[in-house]
Amino acid sequence: RPDDRVIDDSHRSIDLAVTTLRAGSVVALPTETVYGLAADASNPAAVRRVFELKGRPCDHPLIVHLGLGVNLSDWARRIPEVAIRLAETFWPGPLTMVLERSPSVLDEVTGGLDTVALRVPHHTVALRILKALGGGLAAPSANRFGRVSPTTAYDVVASLGVGVDLVVDGGPCRVGIESTIVAFDGQEVVILRPGGVSPEAIARVIGYRTRIVPELVRAPGSMASHYAPAVSLELRGASDIVDHATRLVVDGRRVGVLSLAPVRVPGATLVWDAEGDMALFAHLLYAVMRQADAEGLDVLAVELPPDEGLGVAIRDRLCRAAVRSQQHDKEVVDDH
Ligand code: TXA
Ligand code: MG
Repeated sequence: RPDDRVIDDSHRSIDLAVTTLRAGSVVALPTETVYGLAADASNPAAVRRVFELKGRPCDHPLIVHLGLGVNLSDWARRIPEVAIRLAETFWPGPLTMVLERSPSVLDEVTGGLDTVALRVPHHTVALRILKALGGGLAAPSANRFGRVSPTTAYDVVASLGVGVDLVVDGGPCRVGIESTIVAFDGQEVVILRPGGVSPEAIARVIGYRTRIVPELVRAPGSMASHYAPAVSLELRGASDIVDHATRLVVDGRRVGVLSLAPVRVPGATLVWDAEGDMALFAHLLYAVMRQADAEGLDVLAVELPPDEGLGVAIRDRLCRAAVRSQQHDKEVVDDH
């Protein structure tokens, strides 16, 4: 669908994005996780505009995205040694680290906290823009507050509507769910939000299995109602998913199914599977929720993947989305 706010990833487009950001406007751009709604992290008015566009309370802090080879001490101080090791291992990539902020970081970015969330995204478009800009980009996911994060440029326009001026199209996001957020308690690492880097991968670097303590996040992503589609979500284990979906079909509902391994559910309107691959499951998750909404399905039956690897983050998003869909009142949340 042609839309002149959506531009490609050519050199000219990157230049336009950088000029737009320097002028204090916001630009939606791809990362490897989800699309972000970016503002120059050193421009308070630009950062405030991000909150307006998202409809997000302004005491919710944003992640600052940094380019390759950036000097961490420009942004954070008293950085634990273990954080340096995590950065060396996972950056660029889907890991966000919450560190004590340097005094120069804007209150608009941190929501007044004394910490700042930092990550180097693994996407050529984001990295080219960051390199040309030379600073940091404060960017939440480019969706309306409380909705499913966008994984294509089209999703951004569908979610933010006329509010967004420029969207750089870098294709579908490879990872498809948000970054893992970690914080530090001295040298101890804790996970505030599971995401694209698995707990096992972190454990391999630090030598022990981390705790997941979402209650520590002052974070929309930690509220039960976040990541919600409009369709009613029903979560089942691998042994149960086919029987359950079949019962729903027999009851006359318009049913979608998302499973880890291929399944057959005769009469289901749409059936997706992840070919047994957890990374593909994560990649498909939000796209399937959106398509289920677009098709006006009554129910999306989803297989809960094992609680390991990327499955930890997938289950986290599914459980939050299911809570919301149970409380769901279509008129109230139809804010795409
Ligand atoms: O993959 C991602 O992380 C994507 C892409 C665009 O980078 N971004 C993203 O941003 O998911 P957002 O704003 O939707 O979620 C960021 C989360 C929020 O839950 C926020 O509260 C938390 O990070 N956060 C940011 N700064 C924090 C801080 N100083 N302390 C604790 N949590 C923080
Ligand atoms: Mg978000």
